[in-house]
Amino acid sequence: MSVPDLHEPLKFAYWVPNVSGGLVTSDIEQRTDWGYEYNKQLAVLAENNGFEYALTQVRYTASYGAAYQHESTGFSLALLLATQRLKVIAAIHPGLWHPGVLAKFVASADVISGGRAAINVVSGWFKDEFTKLGEPWLEHDERYRRTEEFITAVRELWTNDHAEFGGDFYRIHDFDIKPKPEVSPGRPHPEIFQGGNSTAARKVAGRVSDWYFSNGKDYDGFTEQVEDVRAIANGRTVRFGLNGFVIARESAAEAEAVFREIIEKADRPAVEGFRSAVAQAGKSTADNKGMWADSEFKDLVQYNDGFRTQLIGTPEHIADRAIEYKKRGANLLLLGFLHYLEDVEYFGKNVLPVIREKERELAELSA
Ligand SMILES: Cc1cc2nc3c(=O)[nH]c(=O)nc-3n(C[C@H](O)[C@H](O)[C@H](O)COP(=O)(O)O)c2cc1C
Repeated sequence: MSVPDLHEPLKFAYWVPNVSGGLVTSDIEQRTDWGYEYNKQLAVLAENNGFEYALTQVRYTASYGAAYQHESTGFSLALLLATQRLKVIAAIHPGLWHPGVLAKFVASADVISGGRAAINVVSGWFKDEFTKLGEPWLEHDERYRRTEEFITAVRELWTNDHAEFGGDFYRIHDFDIKPKPEVSPGRPHPEIFQGGNSTAARKVAGRVSDWYFSNGKDYDGFTEQVEDVRAIANGRTVRFGLNGFVIARESAAEAEAVFREIIEKADRPAVEGFRSAVAQAGKSTADNKGMWADSEFKDLVQYNDGFRTQLIGTPEHIADRAIEYKKRGANLLLLGFLHYLEDVEYFGKNVLPVIREKERELAELSA
């Protein structure tokens, strides 16, 4: 099992609010906006406050408190053009994209942005998104089998002038994409993120993904995932990103009060609707390890289990937890916020320096 490199700084990503309604399904005030002008300002602010990545969500139609949604690949390219250094990860669904068309789009986005494009291949939980578009909704593990083929085909298209792929879902014959994406040391092609909690999601990550994205988890839950994916990867390098919702305030009491208010004001029908949709999406996982399988009501108010990571409290508390996750294998923390512009800046100015200081201490100890 490879050991995490404690000398490499932890990376940070934020969830792009390209879907309306904010990151929590609650009537608490959320000073955020899903529109482009706001997101442009946020992206520039984020890259100036220590964020290396942004993750754009994919949602094609309204569901459970997300009435409006900007399309992820186009929106990601627009954010790449508005920034200098930020890497933007576009979420995409196999089954709705052909790998050749997606590989071509992202190759162009990568060239235009100087090598800053990335993708998050999501296998999907929202059945209506497929069936209402007349596309088949595959059984859970079949969705992941398609995802594995999709990633393998996209990588082949990005790296081979005579791309070949023969699978059950996709077939490619002697295909050459020009321009190819940018290549730099350690980056043979745009980075491929992929996540989930189920055994199928872990197997795909271990076998073909560059990054495994985890929903929010407590320490032991995260360690269990890391060990599992590393065992499947069997020496191949897979990096780990972990989701967490940040409520950073000067005192623990202030932060906890905000958390309580989020839960008290939760939009119950929307959260319950989401719970039943994800329950049916995961029900074919025989071992019941699927994402959200053990989520409680309060976990689902942040729809990617972001409260479980417990990044709620003072900068010192959040930094301590970030360091512990790093020791357990996290390379990146994917963060969501309530009042994006204010909170991203607060994180960059008040939390990040504490994390960097603790990282220096950790590196010295492990030297
Ligand atoms: C970090 C992260 C981001 C995700 N983003 C999206 C998204 O933008 N759109 C979407 O439909 N699903 C998204 N998903 C959910 C996946 O599509 C999928 O439903 C989920 O990972 C299935 O989990 P399972 O393998 O545990 O069943 C995301 C999952 C993770 C972990």
